[in-house]
Amino acid sequence: MKPQKVIFSQNLPTTLEQAVSECAHDRLLVLVDETTRDCCLPVVSNLSCMREAQVITIGATDTHKTLESLSHVWSEMQQMGATRHSLMINLGGGMVTDLGGFAASTFKRGIPYINIPTTLLSMVDASVGGKTGINFGGLKNEIGVFNNAHCVIIDTTFLRTLDHENILSGYAEMLKHGLIDNEEHWAELLNNPIDTIGTIGTIDTIDHLSHLLAKSVAVKQHIVTEDPTEKGLRKALNLGHTAGHAFESYALKHKPVLHGYAVAYGLVVELYLCCVKTGFPQDKMRQTVNFIKEHYGRMTITCDDYPYLLELMHHDKKNQGSGINFTLLGGIGDIRINQTATEEEIKDALDFYREY
Ligand code: GLY
Repeated sequence: MKPQKVIFSQNLPTTLEQAVSECAHDRLLVLVDETTRDCCLPVVSNLSCMREAQVITIGATDTHKTLESLSHVWSEMQQMGATRHSLMINLGGGMVTDLGGFAASTFKRGIPYINIPTTLLSMVDASVGGKTGINFGGLKNEIGVFNNAHCVIIDTTFLRTLDHENILSGYAEMLKHGLIDNEEHWAELLNNPIDTIGTIGTIDTIDHLSHLLAKSVAVKQHIVTEDPTEKGLRKALNLGHTAGHAFESYALKHKPVLHGYAVAYGLVVELYLCCVKTGFPQDKMRQTVNFIKEHYGRMTITCDDYPYLLELMHHDKKNQGSGINFTLLGGIGDIRINQTATEEEIKDALDFYREY
């Protein structure tokens, strides 16, 4: 896979002009959703490189990360006369960068694409590392390919457009990066005044968040460069996600939750397993769980929901054979991939989640 450049931009128009000029193309396509078309596209639409650009719009939110939306994008690309030498820009959150990356990676066997993430979640996670795809058959990201963007351009001024829930959603992935990185990084995240971000959106709080965001992206960049196709180390990024994806799919049937909230709840379950199975220190687990409880609240489940949650965990892409695969920690920064847990252990962890 080609390496991926991540550019932190202070001036998106100039950075984008430069990135587009470096990537020879005959046609330029821009994928947006209904929200980013209105809120973010105007920031770049007057650029000279964008004069000839053709815009494709899909519905906003994860409910549109479907085969139907993908088919719509492919049809538009075809009708717009895109060729193998065209270039795609994905301007949006993780749904747009994942689906757009997949559309670009498969159209005429693949055209280059540039990601411009507009949410915290997509800046720290989705847009970096070449995972592209769509949801299918009720399962998240079931169909997709690994293929790096030509580059990812991060401009934190977009964070000012986000509400507090969307800031928190991205922050859960940052917390995960802190846990798999080191104690100093983890402590900095726990002590950050996250409550003020996205509610007042002051320059100071966004600037401080930008510093933590750069640290977080560096953790992800390091891991995906070492292991682009998730044969080993990249599985570290799955911490919190086995239970988290189950919570997220479960919530689709009740009241959908943002991805990062599901990951935060998944971290509670999996940090408990870390304590029981791999010796993670109890005090650090409690501190992290208290932080999550304070900021993310809790999604209500009962023990009647356990069989369905376990069934969802059994369907997880990360499994091999019949066991349920987890990434656990022996301590902060002490990554233990390819761990399994019995149904009884997982039920105990779900009891802990309900009671904490
Ligand atoms: N979101 C986890 C990964 O990119 O591997």
